[in-house]
Order: sequence, then structure tokens, then C-alpha cells
Amino acid sequence: MALLDATDVTGGYGGADILCGLNLTLSRDEVVVIVGPNGAGKSTFMKAVFGLVNVRAGSIVYDGRDITNNKPEDIVARGICYVPQERNVFPSMSVQENLEMGAFIRKDDWRPQMEKIYELFPRLAERKKQPVGQMSGGERQMVAMGRALMLEPKLLLLDEPTAGLSPKFIDETFRQVKRVNALGVGILMVEQNAKQALAIADRGYVFSSGQNRFEDTGRGMLANKEIAEMFLGG
Ligand SMILES: Nc1ncnc2c1ncn2[C@@H]1O[C@H](COP(=O)(O)OP(=O)(O)OP(=O)(O)O)[C@@H](O)[C@H]1O
Ligand SMILES: [Mg+2]
Repeated sequence: MALLDATDVTGGYGGADILCGLNLTLSRDEVVVIVGPNGAGKSTFMKAVFGLVNVRAGSIVYDGRDITNNKPEDIVARGICYVPQERNVFPSMSVQENLEMGAFIRKDDWRPQMEKIYELFPRLAERKKQPVGQMSGGERQMVAMGRALMLEPKLLLLDEPTAGLSPKFIDETFRQVKRVNALGVGILMVEQNAKQALAIADRGYVFSSGQNRFEDTGRGMLANKEIAEMFLGG
């Protein structure tokens, strides 16, 4: 059974539909990447999964349960965490405080999970007290991912985690995404660094104008000349 099963998802922000019948599945062990032109509806689709955009038709089933138009706080409680494209950290707070904020709704002992996150991101362990606003873009993305992981999600939604990062940090971020996935977290990721993202992905989707344009394994997409030229930067 798929962990996430989105069927004919249609909706938007109240005006014309931005999502025009999108379909996507993800199983628990997968890294799935969504690529496509600016304005295609990639971020809007992620927001729809997370209950931030009104879904007018179609359904989003997670872990066997219909979560379409559920409230984000209920979706989080079921094990989905979302790292938005922008403003995904608290810049005036320290690394440690950002991680603590991530655990805000947890009533059990989250300290072991924080230790795991510091193991996963040693760079953050070295900078626990540093205000996140003073950190590099790559480090901030680690904080954002770490904060989401504080809830031990089963599914992590990452919207352009490598945007604006240097090549070295892009590689590092994708390696970390793989490591998080190996811990048993399904990953749905939107990426503009499409080729690199697909190289670590199990499967990929091309969205365009709010519709599915293409889907294949990561490798299959990279091998497809036409798709590469149209959507992956040649
Ligand atoms: N809050 C909003 N209110 C109204 N329209 C919005 C809002 N956010 C996005 N849109 C519109 O929805 C469409 C899809 O935007 P979306 O952010 O999903 O694209 P995207 O595929 O993530 O693009 P990018 O690659 O640039 O991040 C765009 O036309 C955009 O203008
Ligand atoms: Mg976007």
C-alpha cells in the first residue's frame, strides 16, 4: 500500500484552479522528486498535501486514511512534516531553540531524537547556540530539515531544499536526504536542481500547468532525452 496516494487533486487559492487533476503516489521507502517549470503548481501541490490549499476535487490518502482538506495540525499529528520553500526557520533563535520548536507538540521525551539529528547533522551539533539568522544558506536548510525531523515523521515534504546553495552544499543536502530516507522516512521533494535530485530519487514526476506531464524512475527520467531537454535543463 502506498504511504501517500493523491488522485485527481484539483484546487487552488480561491480563484482559478492551480492544480488541475494531479496524481502522485509514494511508498514508505521512496524518495520521490517533483520537477517542472516555475508556476507549475509544485509548491501548491505540497501545500495541498499539507492542508494549506483548498482541494476542490480529488483526494489525498495518507497511510490508508483520507486526509483531504484536513487541518495542518491534524496532518502533522499523523506523521507528515513540511519544510516550505521560504521562511522555514526562526532566524533570531539558536539552532537548539529551532529544534525545540520543532518538538513543540510532542508530549513525550524528544531528547533522543534531538541527539539523532545532531548525529545526522554534525555541523549543527557544533553550532547549537548560534542564531540561525547568522548561518549559511546550507546550514539553515539543515536546521529546517532537522526541525521537521523532531516530530519523527513518516513522510517529509521538502520544497526546494537546495535552492540558492553552492554546489558543495547541494551535494551534501542530497546526501542527507538519502540518509534521512534510509532511517525510514518517505521523502517527497520539489527540486529545481532536477538532474542531481533525480540521481538520488527512486521516482520522479514532471508537473506543468497544474497537470502531470511525465513520470518515471529517477534513472528513466535522466535517460529520456526529450524530458531532459524540456524540463531538466538539457
Ligand atoms: N498564495 C497564493 N495565492 C494566489 N496564488 C498563488 C499563491 N501562491 C502561488 N500562487 C499561484 O499559483 C501558481 C503556482 O504556484 P506554485 O508556487 O505552486 O508554483 P511552483 O511550481 O512551486 O513554482 P516555482 O518553481 O517558481 O517555485 C502560480 O501561478 C502562482 O502565482
Ligand atoms: Mg515552488
